[in-house]
Amino acid sequence: MDIRPIIKGVIAKNCNPEGCRKSIQSQIHQLQQLPAISTGPKKVLVIGASSGLGLATRISLAFGGRADTIGISYERPPSGEKSGTAGWFNNLAFTEAAEKEGLIAKNFVGDAYSEPMQQQVVDYIRSEFEGSIDCIVYSLAAGVRPRPDGSGFWKSSLKPVGEPFAGNIINIEKDQIQPVSMPPASPEEVQETVKVMGGENWEEWIRCLDSNNLLARGVKTIAFSYIGSDVTYPIYFGGTMGQAKLHLHDTSDRLNKFLSKHQGEAHIGVSTALVSKASVFIPGFSCYMMALSRVLKQKGEYETSVAHMHRMMKDFLFHPEGVKTDENRLIRADDRELNPEVQAEIFRLIDKVTAENFRSDQYADYSGFIEEFMGLSGFTAKDRVFPETIASQEPALN
Ligand code: NAD
Ligand code: NA
Repeated sequence: MDIRPIIKGVIAKNCNPEGCRKSIQSQIHQLQQLPAISTGPKKVLVIGASSGLGLATRISLAFGGRADTIGISYERPPSGEKSGTAGWFNNLAFTEAAEKEGLIAKNFVGDAYSEPMQQQVVDYIRSEFEGSIDCIVYSLAAGVRPRPDGSGFWKSSLKPVGEPFAGNIINIEKDQIQPVSMPPASPEEVQETVKVMGGENWEEWIRCLDSNNLLARGVKTIAFSYIGSDVTYPIYFGGTMGQAKLHLHDTSDRLNKFLSKHQGEAHIGVSTALVSKASVFIPGFSCYMMALSRVLKQKGEYETSVAHMHRMMKDFLFHPEGVKTDENRLIRADDRELNPEVQAEIFRLIDKVTAENFRSDQYADYSGFIEEFMGLSGFTAKDRVFPETIASQEPALN
């Protein structure tokens, strides 16, 4: 079947189901070439399992550690003219491959913020999953969270705090770099971002599993953070998202104490910047990620999402001698990105990237970025067609 990508700005509106399947199979294959986790969990719940870090972690724990997994995600099946979301097909492909290996892979599709979802998952664990949960991965990235009283939604924002911010995004539809400026967030926008992307819902899940006696002795839970460098600070860690991440970090400390009765632990995994549905929205991020990928590829230190999350699981969270953290109790899988040499090189390169030269791969890894982005929806870079290109036989310049 010949499916053309439909891209609006930085959003892929459709996907290629067969491409998604192949991508999952190839990620599983990649993982199987890596050393396995020797002391990993066996009964895992992944909240936010259908794409990005959650999916990569699920692949790591299942295929690199033989864990049975439950995955929760918010995705759409195909209906009528609509292709369904990539995450829907990722779930199907993951389950098919896991079951072939004799692993349980159960999917729940719906709102992870809601109580009925908690109840469904609890009922399933009780009646069919056999055994209590020894690892909970919390990896939601959402724009909104329904208010529990039914009065609409909290909305998350990607904005600076205190001062305005100006940066570029790469408009993937038009193949252009576009300047974007952002006013600072209002206090309400900060609060709502914390409600959506902070740790409240993570804590609700852990308390719910605990009160239903479903947590195993030695249980570990992890949620993912991004800290980044001076380049990304004003728009990320110093902005609304950073406020939500600080709340997530505080939650991990609270949960860590709470779980001590099970000899359990709660952690924050600080990840490197990865191309995702969400990260292409963040002003300044796309060019930063292109420069980062170029530098890491040159150093032979570049990791795919699945390799990165497997390293976080194998060498940090499930290290045989205990969890590896920094002095602030954070897991730092962002060590390669934040290496001062790497940062200095990114600074040097990013300055040279312009709206005219960015497609040339001269200073940054544009091809890699586009391939990653298209791959999220089961497409390849070659599937993109620009009307201007057809009309003039020349690349579209702005
Ligand atoms: P993603 O969009 O690829 O994945 C988000 C997942 O959450 C999907 O499975 C989606 O279906 C699910 N989801 C969203 N809303 C939901 C809802 N209401 N109910 C149930 N499921 C829902 O995002 P990602 O980039 O993997 O981000 C996951 C986490 O990792 C976030 O906390 C993010 O801040 C963090 N993180 C991302 C990066 C990065 O560079 N991408 C780096 C560090 C940390
Ligand atoms: Na995820």
